[in-house]
Amino acid sequence: MNSDSEQVCPAAIERSPLRATVVGCGTIGAAIGAALASRGLNVTLYDNDPVCREALAGNPPLFAEPDMAQAVLAARTAMRLRVVDHLERQPFPTHYIVCTPTPVTTTGEFDASAIDSAVAAIIDVAQPDDAIFIRSTVPIGTTRRLAARTESRGLDLRLAFTPDRSIGGCTFADQFSVPQLIGGVDGRAAARAVALFAPLGQVIDLGGAEAAEAAKLFANTWRATMFAAANALAMVCETQGLDVHAIFAATGANYPRFSPHRPGPVGGACLPKDVRLLAASTPPEAGALLHGVSQSETQLIALVATALDAHLATRKAPARIAIAGFAFKGQPAVDDARGSAALALAEGLRARWPDAVLVGWDATMSASHIEAAALIPQASLHAAVNGADLAVFGNNHPVLAQTDLDGLALVAAPGALFYDLYGVTVPYRPTLPNGVRHHIFGRGEPGERQR
Ligand SMILES: NC(=O)c1ccc[n+]([C@@H]2O[C@H](COP(=O)([O-])OP(=O)(O)OC[C@H]3O[C@@H](n4cnc5c(N)ncnc54)[C@H](O)[C@@H]3O)[C@@H](O)[C@H]2O)c1
Repeated sequence: MNSDSEQVCPAAIERSPLRATVVGCGTIGAAIGAALASRGLNVTLYDNDPVCREALAGNPPLFAEPDMAQAVLAARTAMRLRVVDHLERQPFPTHYIVCTPTPVTTTGEFDASAIDSAVAAIIDVAQPDDAIFIRSTVPIGTTRRLAARTESRGLDLRLAFTPDRSIGGCTFADQFSVPQLIGGVDGRAAARAVALFAPLGQVIDLGGAEAAEAAKLFANTWRATMFAAANALAMVCETQGLDVHAIFAATGANYPRFSPHRPGPVGGACLPKDVRLLAASTPPEAGALLHGVSQSETQLIALVATALDAHLATRKAPARIAIAGFAFKGQPAVDDARGSAALALAEGLRARWPDAVLVGWDATMSASHIEAAALIPQASLHAAVNGADLAVFGNNHPVLAQTDLDGLALVAAPGALFYDLYGVTVPYRPTLPNGVRHHIFGRGEPGERQR
């Protein structure tokens, strides 16, 4: 039974030779479903969470990315996209695209429970000549392991790994602009995957499922490593009383061999997790760098927490703490706080300063999101910082960069600290009006040099 009220016209289904059923329709499942439907394919969306299905079937569909919401609405109206509340056997050969979460456990192992149960549900309804494409990010070897399960059930299905390489905030647009990587368990599976994804743009066949799994993990690990390297240098500067931003700007001028990323927490659901997934594909003796990169974010948060605690120790209790910006990133803007460094800091502060009043404001996250994070929601940045002893600028949303810092300092508590995790509140001045101290992560304060 369809969970939305629109009936799918059988004639419309028969018109397109290519059909896809997306299993797991959160961020990337909705994006690939909407993208394929926008290119004329018949797409079915299935998620085992009724809240997710309602968001997809609603009018308008609930997405932070407006282009994705428009595409879903247009495809539903054209009867090329439907939302279902269970999987059922299809009358035509179908491509199942698995987009379920692939988390790691607290001890760093791959938690395959969601992907395994999704594939088990597909096997229950699949028939020979169907294909299963794994789009979730997985450790090397997972697609072939899942293929062996389908074979053990006597099904001759085509399995391929077809990763999503979008970035948060651009997941829909990136389906078309970023080449689609594919890697089949065999040549026939690869050919099916090429045919399905070709309507989106360039498709690159890596020649095997394992190579494609590695390629996805390599791309994210590379990015995470670059961020971790910039943050490691920023942490050196913090302890040496140096300004990493000034050093990066000066050394990059007319010097092409050093182009570091801007320092700041990485956050998000993917990058830190994918480094761990790659580490899980590697013997420990070969994974020292990967483990170092994994630890980098924890070290950054610990270093910042120490500075915030030192400031709060000088304040009269109960302190008022403002978390300004807690989506995990502000550019491109997302309404996603998974892996948010600002939230990790807030949780630590609440534990260590139980009397403190924690308030929150974010340019994209709703009041209910803020409440869910156990912060008192504020209607504006100004309201959040009003009377605050400490304000953490927790992401790089452009609104934070356009802030009248002097005006904010005037409404903060005298002698407050403004701690900017991403260097958006520039230009830096050590002291703002009202005796407010300004600190940008990576800009060590003179006198902090440790020999
Ligand atoms: N978010 C991104 O920008 C991004 C980018 C590239 C790759 N990825 C990868 O894509 C995968 C999914 O990420 P996401 O951000 O879309 O996750 P998500 O949490 O937003 O969505 C996953 C969805 O799967 C559903 N689900 C879980 N188990 C299911 C099951 N057995 N059957 C049906 N539905 C089920 C959940 O209800 C949820 O809606 C992960 O492996 C992630 O690493 C994500």
